[in-house]
Amino acid sequence: MSFTSILLQCRAGFESECAAEFSEQALGAGHTGYVRFERNAGYVRFMLQTDALALLQQVSFRSLVFTRQWCACLEPFDQLPATDRLSVLLGPVATLPACAELLAEVPDTTEGRELLPFAGKLSSAMAQTLRQQAIMLPRKARTDWRMHLFALSGRHLLMGVSPVNNGTKLAMGIRRLKFPAQAPSRSTLKLEEAWHWFVPRHQWGERLGGGKTAVDLGAAPGGWTWQLVQQGMFVTAVDNGPMSEDLMDSGQVVHSREDAFYYQPPKPVDWMVCDVADKPARVTARMLEWALRGWCREMIFNLKLPMKKRHLEVQQCLDMIRTGLEQADISYSLSARHLYHDREEVTCYLDLRR
Ligand SMILES: C[S@@+](CC[C@H](N)C(=O)[O-])C[C@H]1O[C@@H](n2cnc3c(N)ncnc32)[C@H](O)[C@@H]1O
Repeated sequence: MSFTSILLQCRAGFESECAAEFSEQALGAGHTGYVRFERNAGYVRFMLQTDALALLQQVSFRSLVFTRQWCACLEPFDQLPATDRLSVLLGPVATLPACAELLAEVPDTTEGRELLPFAGKLSSAMAQTLRQQAIMLPRKARTDWRMHLFALSGRHLLMGVSPVNNGTKLAMGIRRLKFPAQAPSRSTLKLEEAWHWFVPRHQWGERLGGGKTAVDLGAAPGGWTWQLVQQGMFVTAVDNGPMSEDLMDSGQVVHSREDAFYYQPPKPVDWMVCDVADKPARVTARMLEWALRGWCREMIFNLKLPMKKRHLEVQQCLDMIRTGLEQADISYSLSARHLYHDREEVTCYLDLRR
């Protein structure tokens, strides 16, 4: 079996960030390769001659900001017949390491999404046949690898695998969430998705529930505050703009019409979240100040990205926090992700529980 590339899926328009970030990490792990991508295609291919499976085990998936999903791929299938595609695919696919699940994926673009029904049908038929031939294990079996089918057209697709314990089981890396009708803004989904990504589900009760306290900087009209209230938190919502009246009626929210860059909590809180629309470096400096002063235990904040050098900007912001906390000898864990519900922005999580 020969894996000649790594497929990296990202939000359309962020291919160069995804490519630059992954290339740096691959180089750091001792692998050389080059990237291939088209702008707005929603994916990048990293071509390499070294062991692609080893590379996927060496780079931490969670350390990547702009990669939503990944897999090591076999040579592309680019001349598939219009009928009986399975017979062409099965031979090479049988050489993949043992898997128990197969994700049907397409580029997350308008054109790509039209291929979803095709990719879904083909992958169901393939999984059924592979299971009948005992090439694929039963759904619940424990395996090290997950199989991917990535359709680029009816005739052109990529097949690959990703490590189960270093990746995501979400097809296309997309967490689909239903917009709660009572929430005051669509932004609410960013915080909900952030929790799904940064806080393991089994810890939600302990980390989010039980009447915790929170500050929401740049809160109006209240989409993020709504999420905090749903978890039972008592929230100070800091914003000059108006908050949703229904949310204020919950009795769990105090609206503070102050400037988020100057507001100081009267006493430390469990959570601080920040969705202020301002320069990323300015927001980052403010987040660092909260961390250094011990004003909260956990923090989720959004960085609105500039038009250019977005990967560099994110790295500089994360480095500012790392350097500040290391100089102060404060232990922490910091991560960032370009969430599905993020647009020209990324969401960061800083854990200061010690
Ligand atoms: C993207 S919106 C926040 C949306 C909110 N998270 C939600 O879910 O409804 C950004 C908010 O930041 C606020 N903002 C910008 N600069 C601010 C500042 N210096 N202090 C407080 N709020 C600020 C704006 O008034 C705006 O309401």
